[in-house]
Amino acid sequence: MANSRSFFLAALAAASRAIAQDTDIDIPTGLTPRPLDPDVYGYSIEPVWLDSYLSTPLANNLLSIIANVTGKAPPIRVGGNTADQTYIYDTLSTGGDSLSVPNATQAKTFNITPNWFDTWADYFPTGTDLIYTLNLAVNDSDWTIAVQEAQAAHEALGDKLVMFELGNEIDHFINKGWRDATWGIAEYTEQFRNLTGQITASEWYQAADETSRPKFQAGVFADPPWVPDQQDEIDDFSIDNLTKAWEKPDSGVDLDIVETYATHLYPQSTCDTARWLRMRLDLLSNHTTLWLNVSQFGPQAEAAESTGKFLVMGETNSVSCSGRSGISDTFGAALWGVDYVLTGAALGIRKLYFHLGATSEYSSFTPLPYDLKNETLQPGIRPGWYAHYFVAKTAAPPSPGARLSVAALPAANSSALSGYAVYSADAATNATALAKLVLLDMAVWNGTQGLSNPSTLSATDNDDPAFFSAAARPSSTFAFNTPWCPGADVQVTRLTAPGTNAKSGVAVAGVSFDDATGDRVGEEALESLTVGEGGVLSVSVRRAEGVLLEVVGQEVCGGTGTVPVSGAKGMERAGLWAGMVALGVVAVGGLM
Ligand SMILES: *[C@@H]1O[C@H](CO)[C@@H](O)[C@H](O)[C@H]1NC(C)=O
Ligand SMILES: *[C@@H]1O[C@H](CO)[C@@H](O)[C@H](O)[C@H]1NC(C)=O
Ligand SMILES: *[C@@H]1O[C@H](CO)[C@@H](O)[C@H](O)[C@H]1NC(C)=O
Ligand SMILES: *[C@@H]1O[C@H](CO)[C@@H](O)[C@H](O)[C@H]1NC(C)=O
Ligand SMILES: *[C@@H]1O[C@H](CO)[C@@H](O)[C@H](O)[C@H]1NC(C)=O
Ligand SMILES: *[C@@H]1O[C@H](CO)[C@@H](O)[C@H](O)[C@H]1NC(C)=O
Ligand SMILES: *[C@@H]1O[C@H](CO)[C@@H](O)[C@H](O)[C@H]1NC(C)=O
Ligand SMILES: *[C@@H]1O[C@H](CO)[C@@H](O)[C@H](O)[C@H]1NC(C)=O
Ligand SMILES: *[C@@H]1O[C@H](CO)[C@@H](O)[C@H](O)[C@H]1NC(C)=O
Ligand SMILES: *[C@@H]1O[C@H](CO)[C@@H](O)[C@H](O)[C@H]1NC(C)=O
Ligand SMILES: *[C@@H]1O[C@H](CO)[C@@H](O)[C@H](O)[C@H]1NC(C)=O
Repeated sequence: MANSRSFFLAALAAASRAIAQDTDIDIPTGLTPRPLDPDVYGYSIEPVWLDSYLSTPLANNLLSIIANVTGKAPPIRVGGNTADQTYIYDTLSTGGDSLSVPNATQAKTFNITPNWFDTWADYFPTGTDLIYTLNLAVNDSDWTIAVQEAQAAHEALGDKLVMFELGNEIDHFINKGWRDATWGIAEYTEQFRNLTGQITASEWYQAADETSRPKFQAGVFADPPWVPDQQDEIDDFSIDNLTKAWEKPDSGVDLDIVETYATHLYPQSTCDTARWLRMRLDLLSNHTTLWLNVSQFGPQAEAAESTGKFLVMGETNSVSCSGRSGISDTFGAALWGVDYVLTGAALGIRKLYFHLGATSEYSSFTPLPYDLKNETLQPGIRPGWYAHYFVAKTAAPPSPGARLSVAALPAANSSALSGYAVYSADAATNATALAKLVLLDMAVWNGTQGLSNPSTLSATDNDDPAFFSAAARPSSTFAFNTPWCPGADVQVTRLTAPGTNAKSGVAVAGVSFDDATGDRVGEEALESLTVGEGGVLSVSVRRAEGVLLEVVGQEVCGGTGTVPVSGAKGMERAGLWAGMVALGVVAVGGLM
C-alpha cells in the first residue's frame, strides 16, 4: 500500500508540472482529527439584549436556515456581563418581564420576572440547546437570586435548557469588587459546590426526569493564558488548574453534573488604550495571528479532555468591549470566523459561541434600528453571518448520522493560507474517510466595492483610495493529493466578497441573505470539479476567499476501485478498509 501512496505523490508532482500549479497541498497520513460537531458554531446573547433579538423574526429565520443545513440548530447561551447584574422579582413596577437600569446600553442592573424565561422558551428553532448563566456575583443569602433563577428557567424552558453557568468571567471578579483577594480555585470550588448542591437538591431538580436535568458548564474564564498584559487580575484560575483540583478525591465536586468547561476569547479589544492601538483588520485576517491566539487554549482543551469532558469557547468575538466597526463587520472578520472555528475544533474546542448584542459592532446580525456614534443604523446582516453559513456547510454530516472530524493541514499554514481536512465516520460502521477540504486565502485584498452596509457605521467604510489594493486581484491554483477516485465529482462552495474590507456583497456559492428578513436570496450555484489522475484535485482561489471542497458520494479510492463509505458492502469492503488504514487515508473509530 505504501506504493499507492508514492504513486499519489508522483502523480501529484507530474500533474503539478503539467498544469503549472502554484502550490501543492499535501494531505499527509497520520493527522489526528478531532470532532467537528454540526452545531460547532453557536451564539452567546447578552441578557439585556435578548428582548431585542426576540422582537423580530430575523434571528429565528437565520438560525432555522442553519438548522436546515446541519440538521442541528445552533446552541444559544444567554449570558455575559449582565448575567451577574441580574435580579429576579415576582413582578416589576413597569408591569413588564424585564427592565435594564438605566438602559440596555449602560445597564447597571437587569431586573427580570420568572415570566421572562417564558418569553424565549419557544422563540428558537426546534432542537436548540439553551444555556443560561446564573448570577454568581451576588452572594446574598447563599445565592438566593441564582437559586430562584435556576428554578424559573427550568420551569419555562424545560429540557431545552441543557446547562447552567455559574457567573460570567469569574476571573474578573476581584477587579469588579465582587470578591476579595482570596478569590481563586479554592473559593470557587466551595461556592460551586454550595450553589450546585442547592440546585440539585431542590424539589424541581429531583422531580425532573434524569435526562432533562440541566448540567453545568464550569469555569467561564476570560483571561487569555499566554497574554499577561490582557490578564485582569492575579488569581490561579485556568481550566488546567480547575480540572486538577476537581479530580482530587476530596474536592467534593460532583463531576457527573459537570458537562463542559468554558473559556472566552477576544483577540483584539477596544477596552483600553494599549489594546486600542493594536487593533488592525490585517492582524485579524491572518492565520498566524489566529494560531497564536487560539493555540494557547490547546492545553486547556486537553486538560478538559483528560477528565472526559470538553472545552468550549463559551463567549467570543473579534474585538472585546462591543467590537470595532471597520474590523469586526468586514469580510476579513468572516474569513477569521471560519478559520477560528475550524482551528478551534481541530484543537479540541468543541463549540464556539459568538457574542451578540443588538447594538454591538461585532454582532453578525442586528434586529432593530438604533442610533450609534451620531449615526442611525438599520437592522441587518454583517459578513460574520456568512462565516457561520459556510461553517454550517462544512460541518453538515454528508449522510444521516455520520460524524465529522477535522484536522489542520500543515501545508496550508502561513499568515495568508489556512487549510483543513474534514473526515466523515459512517454512522453504522465508523469507517472513516476524507469527505471535505477547506482552503482559506486569508491574505488582505482591499477592493473598491461593497464598502458600506446600512447596519454598520458609515464612518468606518474603507473608501479611502489609499487603502485600495492595486492592479488585478490575484488568484492561485492549489493542488491537493486526495484519496478520492480519479473522475469523482467534487462540489465547490465558495465564500466570496469584493475584498477583505467589504461590509456587503458577501455570498456563499452565490447565495446571500435578505438584510431585513434573513431569507435566502438567489439560487445556490455550486461549482463542480473532477478529481484527476492519482487523486489530484486542483482548485483556484482568489486572494481573500475561501472554498469548501466536498466529494460527491464520498468516494474513496483504495487502489483497487471505488469504496463507497456509506452503503453496505460487507466483507468486500472490510478488506479494502484494512488497506485504506495502512494507506493512512482513514482513521478508525475513537475519534469522536
Ligand atoms: C427548512 O426546510 C424545510 C423543509 O425543507 C422548509 O420547509 C423550510 O422552509 C426551511 N426553513 C428555512 C428557514 O429555510
Ligand atoms: C443610557 O443611559 C445613560 C445614563 O443615563 C445615558 O447617558 C444614555 O444616553 C442612555 N442611552 C440610551 C441609548 O438611551
Ligand atoms: C460576597 O460578595 C461580596 C461583595 O459582592 C464580597 O465582598 C464577598 O467576598 C463575597 N463573599 C464570598 C464568600 O465570596
Ligand atoms: C451553603 O453554605 C451555607 C453557609 O454559607 C450553608 O448553610 C449551606 O448548608 C450550604 N449549602 C450547601 C448545599 O452546601
Ligand atoms: C495554576 O495554579 C498554580 C499553583 O497555584 C499557580 O502558580 C498558577 O499561576 C496557576 N495558573 C494560572 C494560569 O493561573
Ligand atoms: C492575539 O494575537 C495578537 C497578535 O499576536 C496579539 O496582539 C493579541 O494580544 C492576541 N490576543 C489574545 C487574546 O491572545
Ligand atoms: C501575520 O501575523 C504574524 C503574527 O502576528 C506576523 O508576524 C505577520 O507579519 C503577519 N503577516 C502579515 C502579512 O501581516
Ligand atoms: C457626535 O457629535 C458630537 C457633536 O457634534 C461630537 O462632539 C462627537 O464627537 C460626535 N461623536 C462621534 C463618535 O463622532
Ligand atoms: C502551523 O504553524 C504553527 C507555527 O506558526 C505550528 O505551531 C503549528 O503546529 C502548525 N500547524 C500545523 C497543522 O502544522
Ligand atoms: C462507533 O464509535 C462510537 C463512538 O466511539 C461507538 O460508541 C460505537 O460503538 C462504534 N460503532 C461501531 C460499529 O464500531
Ligand atoms: C486594507 O485596509 C485596511 C483598513 O481597512 C488596512 O488596515 C490595510 O492596511 C489595507 N491593506 C492593504 C493590503 O491595502
